[in-house]
Amino acid sequence: MRARRSCLAVPGSNPRFLEKAQGLAADEVFLDLEDSVAPGAKKDARANIVAALRDGDWAGKTVVVRVNDLTTEWTYRDVIEVVEGAGDRLDCVMLPKVEDASHVTWLDTLLGQIERATGLPDGRIGIEAQIESARGLVAVDEIAGASPRLETLVFGPADFMASIGMRTLVVGQQPPGYDEGDAYHYILMRILMAARAHDLQAIDGPYLQIRDADGFRQVARRAAALGFDGKWVLHPSQVEAANAVFSPSQEDYDHAELILDAYEYYTTVEKRGAVMLGDEMIDEASRKMALVVSAKGRAAGL
Ligand code: GLV
Ligand code: MG
Repeated sequence: MRARRSCLAVPGSNPRFLEKAQGLAADEVFLDLEDSVAPGAKKDARANIVAALRDGDWAGKTVVVRVNDLTTEWTYRDVIEVVEGAGDRLDCVMLPKVEDASHVTWLDTLLGQIERATGLPDGRIGIEAQIESARGLVAVDEIAGASPRLETLVFGPADFMASIGMRTLVVGQQPPGYDEGDAYHYILMRILMAARAHDLQAIDGPYLQIRDADGFRQVARRAAALGFDGKWVLHPSQVEAANAVFSPSQEDYDHAELILDAYEYYTTVEKRGAVMLGDEMIDEASRKMALVVSAKGRAAGL
């Protein structure tokens, strides 16, 4: 699995940002052709992105390009120009506003043709699918199983809130009047279940109040607590916070390693199933939970 604790959005229309992004500690960068690029700037943005992928230093990052959605006139050319121009530098194409499994299979077929035509290894380019409407959420299971290229499902809160008529204009925050619970809980869990049922990662979308560091942390911690793998970041100041929130704490990591060591010892040397570790009873399920924390901790370099 590729690292995606922090997924940095970079507008393809801004060469300065394309340059700057290379020096930031984001796990993933996605170079955008969709909503951060004005209609009149799409063509130049494709060329900027190909040049940045070809000439830039993206080492150590998951490199993604977000194309326009399938209702536009831009999508096919976005995919063809970027993948023909720099497919050997690209990990995934992100498809926004996915509402049906056929959207993913369309992209899968096109990517396969470009790979064959340009001599790229078969299946090299992965897919990230954004779920950002009621239709997309209702079809999320079929979408998640639509292609072996799929690597992640990504929640798009801004478009989603518009799609369902949620009464707020502040993306990522709770709508005023809904004070007791978390208005996003169902959506996040629905996406997470579909992702995990198909061995995909689940990524939370943007928090647009970029000066509100506490708000970002709070929203990110919620998604991380449920099991999400990472979150979009829109500004360099959010990168470190996302990397920290989506990594286990040192304490949790150490605890997980202890459970794994103790369990290994008791089950193999003493041949016991459920055993006590201090005040805590551990068994095979505890081992599985500890493995998740341990794997995330190792990926984060703990
Ligand atoms: C992201 O694309 C969003 O709509 O929130
Ligand atoms: Mg969107």
